[in-house]
Formats: sequence, structure tokens, C-alpha cells
Amino acid sequence: MTSTFTIAIDGPAGAGKGTLARRLADHYRLNLLDTGLTYRAVAYALIQHALPLDNVSAAETAARQVDLAKLDRAVLSAHSVGEAASKIAVYPTVRRILVEKQREFAKTPPGAVLDGRDIGTVVCPDADIKLYVTASADVRAKRRLAEIESIGGTANFTEILADIVRRDERDMGRADSPLKPAADAHLLDTSEMAIEAAFLAAMAVIDDVLAKRNKA
Ligand code: C5P
Repeated sequence: MTSTFTIAIDGPAGAGKGTLARRLADHYRLNLLDTGLTYRAVAYALIQHALPLDNVSAAETAARQVDLAKLDRAVLSAHSVGEAASKIAVYPTVRRILVEKQREFAKTPPGAVLDGRDIGTVVCPDADIKLYVTASADVRAKRRLAEIESIGGTANFTEILADIVRRDERDMGRADSPLKPAADAHLLDTSEMAIEAAFLAAMAVIDDVLAKRNKA
């Protein structure tokens, strides 16, 4: 049997889990999957075909067509696509199709870092490491505003904050696979922590697990 190593990272939008996932995948030479892009790809397909987001059978068809090798971050990263993604993400049948693909990805040697909302709880409950990355809504809204401004855009802080709070409510409040830390997740609050510090803290947790495993 080939062994794989899985790092599950969950947390709300804008907590810094994407950057952390990338750094960890580079450092430990693991595959990387931003599972948010899979939900975004489904929402984007519906938007492209001018279909309503509550058309569950169209969403299921789009989910079956998602190709993990062809997720285009540039196209899918629009704020409106993220908002739409959180609406189709409430449908259990759509989730099941995407989760199946995500699990296959995780099983591919040498293993992977997956980030999302339900990785430690549903997609990879046996992950070697589980991290729950969070930050206050205020800090996440400030980061998002800075990100938009850094590429020459303009946005309104109050509106961004309201969006974040609404998305949190939808992701944490849904019946199927709500966003929550797995019981055995390590919590990382990045409210007052730069990404480098979060990376170092995550590395300490992972290296500790690896050291214990090597001794066993
Ligand atoms: O992380 P990102 O903002 O790209 O995710 C978009 C939306 O997709 C989330 O707000 C959430 O509703 C959904 N999602 C999910 N489960 C995941 C990843 C994302 O429900 N594992």
C-alpha cells in the first residue's frame, strides 16, 4: 500500500487559509487543492448558462463535470462567484459529488494539503493534521479591503464586512457539512498574526506529529 500524508485546513473566508495551504504544500512537497474552487466552478457554470442557483439538477450536472486539473483561479476568484458558490454549497447531492473528487485527490501520492470548510470534518476525517484557521470578521474585512486596494480597486469597508458576516452565517448555519472545527483540529487565530507567523505555528504542529511518527 502506498502511504499518503494529508493536511486538512478549514476556516471562514479571508482567514488566510489559502496562503497558508500554499506555503505548507510547497514546504512539505504535497499536492494542493483549494476545494472552494470546486464549489465556485459549479456556481460559475450556472451563471454562464444563465441558470438560477437553486436549479439543483443543473448544479449536480455541473459538479460532475468539474475537472480538478482545470480549475481556473483567475476566472473563479470574483467575489460574486464566491457568494454564488456558498448558495449552491448547501445542496447535499452537489456536495457529495464534489467531496468524492476531493477524496480521490487526497489519496493521490504523496498526499495533499486541502483547504475548505469541511475537510477535517467530512472530506478527510482521518487527515494526519487538521488546522482550523480563523480571524475576527473585522480583520478579515480589513484584509479583503487592502487586497482590493492593492490591485487598484475601491470598495466600501462596511459592505465588505456585511458580506463576510453573511457568508459566515450561510457556511456555519447550513445543515449539511457546516463550517466548524473538527474535534481534533489545531486552532490558529490569525487576527493578530502575520502569515509568516501562522506558517511557523502550523509547521511546529506538523513537525511534531512527523517526529512522533518517525519515533514510533
Ligand atoms: O473558500 P471559498 O471562498 O473559495 O469558498 C466559496 C464557498 O464555497 C464557501 O463560502 C462555501 O460556501 C463553499 N465551500 C464549501 N466547502 C468547502 C469549500 C468551499 O462549502 N470545502
